[in-house]
This record gives sequence, C-alpha cells and structure tokens, in this order.
Amino acid sequence: MTVESRLRPLTDRQSTPQRFLGLPAPTESELRALIEAAAKVSDHGRLRPWRLLLIHGEARDALGQALVDMRKARGDEMDEAVLQKDLQRFSHAPVVIAVIARLTPDHKIPEVEQLLSAAALAQNLLIGACALGYGAIWLTGWPAYDETALRMLGVESHEKVVGFIHIGTAQGEVPPRERPSYEQLVREWRPADMPAI
Ligand SMILES: Cc1cc2nc3c(=O)[nH]c(=O)nc-3n(C[C@H](O)[C@H](O)[C@H](O)COP(=O)(O)O)c2cc1C
Repeated sequence: MTVESRLRPLTDRQSTPQRFLGLPAPTESELRALIEAAAKVSDHGRLRPWRLLLIHGEARDALGQALVDMRKARGDEMDEAVLQKDLQRFSHAPVVIAVIARLTPDHKIPEVEQLLSAAALAQNLLIGACALGYGAIWLTGWPAYDETALRMLGVESHEKVVGFIHIGTAQGEVPPRERPSYEQLVREWRPADMPAI
C-alpha cells in the first residue's frame, strides 16, 4: 500500500454542503459502527467528555418547526428566507448527529482539553462517514449557542454543542477546495531561534 492510499480517508474527505445531502442514509448498522469507531478518540483522563444526540426521521422537521415557533414566540425578526432556512435547518441530510461536550469544570484535565476531545470525535465522524462513502458536513449555526434552543435539545448548563454533523449521500459533485501545502504549514523549530527569556 502506498502512503497516498493509506492516507486516503483523510485526503478524500471534504465537506458536502447540506443542501446536497440526501438519501440514501447510512444504515443503522453503519451508523452504530461509525459512532463506535469515532469514539476511539484521544481523551485525556478517560473522562469521555462527550455524548451524541441522533436527530433523524420526522424529528428533523419537528426540530426546525420548534425552532421557528420559539423564535416567533419571543419576537425575533424573521423574514421569509430566514424562516424557511430555520424550518429546513435539520431537514436536508437524513441523519444529523449533535456532538455535545460534557464539561467537568475545575478538573485536573482542563476544560479546553475536554472540549477538544469532543471536537476530535466530531472530526472522526466526518472522516468515518466519508470513508463509508457518504457526504457529511460539520455545522453549528445559532442553535448551537442559543440558550432556549439548547434547552429544547436537552443540553445542560455544563455542556456545549460542538457541532451538528449532517450525514447523507452527496447529490452531485462538490468542487475540491484548495488545501495548504507542507511548505505553507510547517516551520522547523530550532534552538537558535529561541528568544532570551
Ligand atoms: C466548529 C465548526 C463549525 C462550523 N460551522 C459551520 C456553519 O455553521 N456553517 C457553515 O457553512 N460552515 C461551518 N463550518 C465549516 C464547514 O464544516 C466546512 O469545514 C467548510 O465548509 C469547509 O469544508 P471542508 O471541510 O471540505 O474544508 C464549521 C466548521 C467547524 C470546524
């Protein structure tokens, strides 16, 4: 196996815009395998500082409707385009996985490391979904930060939504994005460059 082919799960991954995500959905057994594989994630202190919420089937439209109803009830200004966007926010891809960081404050493992572990799990989901032949994208948007929306999702005060991973089958080609080269990314650290401290 060449280096290129071994790295293919990483180099082949790219996001699919959610409006291009449709059926078929991952099967139940693919989803289980994907989630268990994605949870093989770096986790300082074995805290398992994450949990997942599966939003699929009719729950997707129901969540969009509930978000719109909530915004109307509290008097948010919404033109028709915003309203439609929120209605459809979780409805394009057949499966959406909310990745939730469960943070333990004042732990010897800093909160930021707990959050980063959840983010790594989210990235594993993306890589795994693409390796299975599906399209996927990591989105947040206002519901990831809005107190009422978070309550509707059952997210508690010590928790944060690190992202919604939308997964489905890409309907059409997504143009490749330009990626940074080794030269653009890497500088070598040399002891001689160290400032006097
Ligand atoms: C934490 C996080 C949140 C994101 N939220 C959004 C979002 O709400 N809307 C959006 O268009 N892209 C969002 N993105 C960017 C997309 O997931 C994706 O990275 C981007 O479209 C580039 O595609 P690529 O993954 O192929 O590089 C987010 C990325 C991250 C890491």
